Amino acid sequence: MRANRHQPQPIGNAPVFQQLLNTAQLVAATRASVLILGESGSGKEVLARHIHNLSPVAHKPFVAVNCAALPENLVESELFGYKRGAFSHASQDRDGLIRSAEGGTLFLDEIGELPLTVQAKLLRFLESGEILPLGQDRAVNVNVRVLAATNCQLEKMVKDGRFRADLYYRLQVVPMEVMPLRERGGDIPLLAEHFIKQAAATHGLPTVSFDAEALAALKTYSWPGNIRELKNLCERLTILCAQRFEPLGVDNLPPEIRCGRVVPAASSVGILSLEEQEREMILQALDQAKGNKTHAAKLLGITRYTLLYRLKKHFPGSLETAGI
Ligand SMILES: Nc1ncnc2c1ncn2[C@@H]1O[C@H](COP(=O)(O)OP(=O)(O)OP(=O)(O)O)[C@@H](O)[C@H]1O
Ligand SMILES: [Mg+2]
Repeated sequence: MRANRHQPQPIGNAPVFQQLLNTAQLVAATRASVLILGESGSGKEVLARHIHNLSPVAHKPFVAVNCAALPENLVESELFGYKRGAFSHASQDRDGLIRSAEGGTLFLDEIGELPLTVQAKLLRFLESGEILPLGQDRAVNVNVRVLAATNCQLEKMVKDGRFRADLYYRLQVVPMEVMPLRERGGDIPLLAEHFIKQAAATHGLPTVSFDAEALAALKTYSWPGNIRELKNLCERLTILCAQRFEPLGVDNLPPEIRCGRVVPAASSVGILSLEEQEREMILQALDQAKGNKTHAAKLLGITRYTLLYRLKKHFPGSLETAGI
């Protein structure tokens, strides 16, 4: 995936967000590895692209790789490439995703899902700037800056032996945390306006607006799906309510927002709540999509493969019984 230099700036006026953008500007001038932390949908990829776009290599490739979406048996060959004949289906040489980012930025999303064997190989690349494609005995020099992101508690994974400590420290030369949307509620009107304008332009529809009560409800809701959830809501309301001329009220909002249901914040109840929120979002999306996984994945803004992966993680054994 290439960088779009005309991509809009990440939106947000909250002081804590502005501080993050300042840090982005500082790290963009360097080649340091950055570990971006944050809940699902909070804008980790947006921040990574922003760092790339501000960097001296903005005109070079930005390659985003979702580590969770790569099947475990293919992840090494996809990242590092291979020589013809390295394994049974390797009918020709392939460069791999790391080399395709030559001169630019490699964004490793969901880095916590990388198998331990591949973690070791990635560390070697970060230390030496060299990769060894499968089936090749000569290492290749690659000039690529690495940004990584996760919504996992990597520190806990290190303690449990599921993530290499040396790679963890190597990646987080500069750690950056994107805060959940509920912690910058003041930005909600600005973001909502932006997404409504965007959806109206995409679908050729008039823009909708919110009355004061609806805006207050949006600000108090806990947004477990963060900015992605707000963006999807704005698009849905634009499509469904564009013909109304008066501002939208609370009655136009989905029940979970209307009823002021507050999903507990991860910080107040510990690590598990994040997983519970993700489980709940998946169940809600499946419910809304009447069990259609392709549609549910679309609602969640993830690929069908990632949804299947997450279903397997949260509901082990359920895929077979559900006939997937
Ligand atoms: N600051 C922002 N300004 C405008 N749009 C944003 C901002 N942050 C996120 N978005 C939008 O919200 C959606 C989710 O953002 P993004 O994909 O960067 O989140 P993420 O943290 O990488 O999510 P995941 O954990 O699921 O990978 C995208 O459509 C993105 O364009
Ligand atoms: Mg992402």
